[in-house]
Amino acid sequence: MTRTYVNHLPRHVESSPIPPRSLSIPFPDRLHSAHRSQASAAMHRPRRLPLLLILLGLLPAVARALLPPPRFPGPHARPRPRAGTGDGVGGGYEFETRYFRQRLDHFSFSGEEEFFQQRYLVGRAGAGGWAGPGGPIFFYCGNEGDIAWFAANSGLVWDAAPRFAALVVFAEHRYYGESMPFGSKDKAYNNSRSMAYLTAEQALADYAVLLTDLKRNLSSESSPVVLFGGSYGGMLAAWMRLKYPHIAVGALASSAPILQFEDIVPDTIFYDLVSNDFKRESLSCFQTIKDSWKELDEQGNGQDGLLKLSKTFHLCQTLNTTGALSDWLSSAYSYLAMVDYPMPSEFLMPLPANPIKEVCRNIDKQPEGSSILERIYAGVNIYYNYTGTVDCFDLDDDPHGMGGWDWQACTEMVMPMSSSEGLSMFLPDEFDYALYADDCVKNFGVRPRPRWISTEFGGHNISSVLEKFGSNIIFFNGLLDPWSGGGVLKNISESVVAIVAPLGAHHIDLRPATKEDPDWLVSLRESELEIISGWLSDHYGARGGALFQRATNKDSAAS
Ligand SMILES: *[C@@H]1O[C@H](CO)[C@@H](O)[C@H](O)[C@H]1NC(C)=O
Ligand SMILES: *[C@@H]1O[C@H](CO)[C@@H](O)[C@H](O)[C@H]1NC(C)=O
Ligand SMILES: *[C@@H]1O[C@H](CO)[C@@H](O)[C@H](O)[C@H]1NC(C)=O
Ligand SMILES: *[C@@H]1O[C@H](CO)[C@@H](O)[C@H](O)[C@H]1NC(C)=O
Ligand SMILES: *[C@@H]1O[C@H](CO)[C@@H](O)[C@H](O)[C@H]1NC(C)=O
Ligand SMILES: *[C@@H]1O[C@H](CO)[C@@H](O)[C@H](O)[C@H]1NC(C)=O
Repeated sequence: MTRTYVNHLPRHVESSPIPPRSLSIPFPDRLHSAHRSQASAAMHRPRRLPLLLILLGLLPAVARALLPPPRFPGPHARPRPRAGTGDGVGGGYEFETRYFRQRLDHFSFSGEEEFFQQRYLVGRAGAGGWAGPGGPIFFYCGNEGDIAWFAANSGLVWDAAPRFAALVVFAEHRYYGESMPFGSKDKAYNNSRSMAYLTAEQALADYAVLLTDLKRNLSSESSPVVLFGGSYGGMLAAWMRLKYPHIAVGALASSAPILQFEDIVPDTIFYDLVSNDFKRESLSCFQTIKDSWKELDEQGNGQDGLLKLSKTFHLCQTLNTTGALSDWLSSAYSYLAMVDYPMPSEFLMPLPANPIKEVCRNIDKQPEGSSILERIYAGVNIYYNYTGTVDCFDLDDDPHGMGGWDWQACTEMVMPMSSSEGLSMFLPDEFDYALYADDCVKNFGVRPRPRWISTEFGGHNISSVLEKFGSNIIFFNGLLDPWSGGGVLKNISESVVAIVAPLGAHHIDLRPATKEDPDWLVSLRESELEIISGWLSDHYGARGGALFQRATNKDSAAS
């Protein structure tokens, strides 16, 4: 039995209705290399080859599951939406919800101009509020999801704003949350023609237009804007600083894998990093997971195998393919690596501090004689059932709707990902661009342009290019985060700097401060704010020193 390759991938527990699925699809790479064995070809081309293989008698005895492509963490990865919506409070931060009449297409003149309502959140001016006209603006570049969720999870922006008397603005990315062109999600996501305007370039232009208009309305044209963003939002922040240097004085791009394109970084790096996070906690845990895939397939193929697997893993429904289960497990491991924070978090799921350590502890501590799969079940319970309140696991509550990120991944955001034979605890898996592209045609009626991002934003030879032509960007990365493999990890110039946290995970710097924060986190946030403070001082210089100073003094007076 060969698993059908489905484009709408990881089926983790979740059913957040609002934001579409994110990062699906496997990833391209190796546009040139296409060598692989027969067996592995069968594994990669399930849709086209099965008949042929059956005829040739080559169908592999053991069906192998494709690795589900990783997604960025986001509200889509949660079991249920929790972000505050509407006016009021998200994660305890007070904001006002506003809508801006935004142009649908910034890059052509058709005579039939269309607009949509773009949502944005503005921090409430309270005590220690905005300095007023001319004062700094902290602008968060919205990601692929509901902006209220990102606002609730980006505490650094809110926590830092009073120190600089900055106005906080979180802008929603078009086609996500409430910012739907054509009036509704159904219409916006109808077909390739209606989705055509979902691109990073259009989103950046939205932010530029929104900021320019907002400043004019506030009589605050001279305000310095500092961009923030994490993950895809971090990519947007960095790119926006490069493309619109007159609109923002600098960008904090947190966990932004701007190099995860083409062959700029090795395509195996993501899964190698996930695997390494498990290996560093426990070699036997790593090995158990590595051995589990074969075990899954063998069990699944045995008598009543799928039924037994469904029981072992407490699934709500009987599996009809082992692939769905492997996807679900792989997703958990990838997400765990992204959120391997040293303090408890509820970012994706309620999780303990150092969740991978806990998963491995559970896998390792099962009584002598426990089977591999019993261990795996015990481990994955930490991710999917830490609260102990889940009755059964539903692998299939993904409605298979077209997700916004699926579209983006099928057009511009082609991030090749493979799994290596040696270092990875996942099954070896080589990225197959041809299959990827064909699936995009099939699902969306579009063919990706895998080289467009580097053409538009650069990426090759990034150090020498940014050294000459870039300035005022902080690239934060935590090395436990598998996305750090596509991040900028070296200082490039005086003002294009890399802040690297060896024990950090996905944009941990942006997370709301907690009492459990380790010293290294507190001090790296401080370094980031010092750098930002330098950008603002440069901006104000002698001229506006008074304004910025006032903010600084206010802060020191308050503390
Ligand atoms: C989707 O597009 C088709 C034409 O391609 C049109 O007939 C249909 O009304 C559209 N649906 C929505 C919800 O806009
Ligand atoms: C600026 O003001 C105009 C007029 O009130 C309003 O239509 C527009 O939405 C405002 N812009 C922003 C970014 O809020
Ligand atoms: C497997 O089961 C799911 C529902 O649980 C169903 O949507 C899907 O079509 C089934 N696949 C096959 C190949 O039967
Ligand atoms: C979740 O955890 C609780 C408490 O440990 C357990 O009783 C329950 O069976 C678990 N749910 C699943 C689906 O395994
Ligand atoms: C990268 O930049 C260096 C230094 O400017 C230059 O010598 C080299 O040729 C560049 N490589 C590519 C592929 O452009
Ligand atoms: C880059 O430079 C900053 C100081 O500007 C320093 O704090 C940081 O550790 C450096 N990063 C790396 C990766 O060396």
